Amino acid sequence: LSFQKAHFTISAPDIRHLPADSGMEVAFAGRSNAGKSSALNVLTRQNSLARTSKTPGRTQQINVFALDDERRLIDLPGYGFAKVPLEMKQKWQLALSEYLQERKCLRGLVVLMDIRHPMKDLDQELIHWAVESNLPVLAVLTKADKLKSGARKATLLKIKEAIPGFGGDVSVITFSSLNKSGLPELESVLQQWFQT
Ligand code: GTP
Ligand code: MG
Repeated sequence: LSFQKAHFTISAPDIRHLPADSGMEVAFAGRSNAGKSSALNVLTRQNSLARTSKTPGRTQQINVFALDDERRLIDLPGYGFAKVPLEMKQKWQLALSEYLQERKCLRGLVVLMDIRHPMKDLDQELIHWAVESNLPVLAVLTKADKLKSGARKATLLKIKEAIPGFGGDVSVITFSSLNKSGLPELESVLQQWFQT
């Protein structure tokens, strides 16, 4: 399975506009600005596949990138950012929760968190929900380049210690879209999830 072959399929305002709920999908979720779209671009080796921005709230629709006829990567709108007009936010937060609750072909959830602010309430809620839904979770601590090695390792260890508390299939890695650290680990987990 080659992630480089990913191509944009659709930007869906709600789940009714998505491709048929068949095959397999892996979705990237997390707080606004966590680095979801950036990580997708690193994974697919395509700098401008998913749109990124300094301003939180960039991704407001469900963006679908097909790998082949059966397999798709999903860039979800972020959650938890206060400085977005409420009406706008409600619209895309509804799309997000509908996607998570309804999408049967979802095979795994990548939960991205800024390594400097990991495991906020909504992140924990999402991981708990995924475990309850029998969905495997990969927690990705993004922007690892922002911390020195010691602090990076300490945060990773702290999150690893918290993981058994969630039960289920949850693992954690550090990642940087700048220096691509963590990319082999991300790829290997996704390869597993996408195997029938
Ligand atoms: P929304 O679509 O708003 O939910 O955000 P997102 O999670 O898709 O974040 P996005 O990928 O757009 O990145 C947000 C900002 O963080 C951008 O300015 C990126 O350049 C920056 N960023 C993302 N990943 C990294 C990283 O690994 N290291 C550093 N230093 N900056 C990063
Ligand atoms: Mg985004």
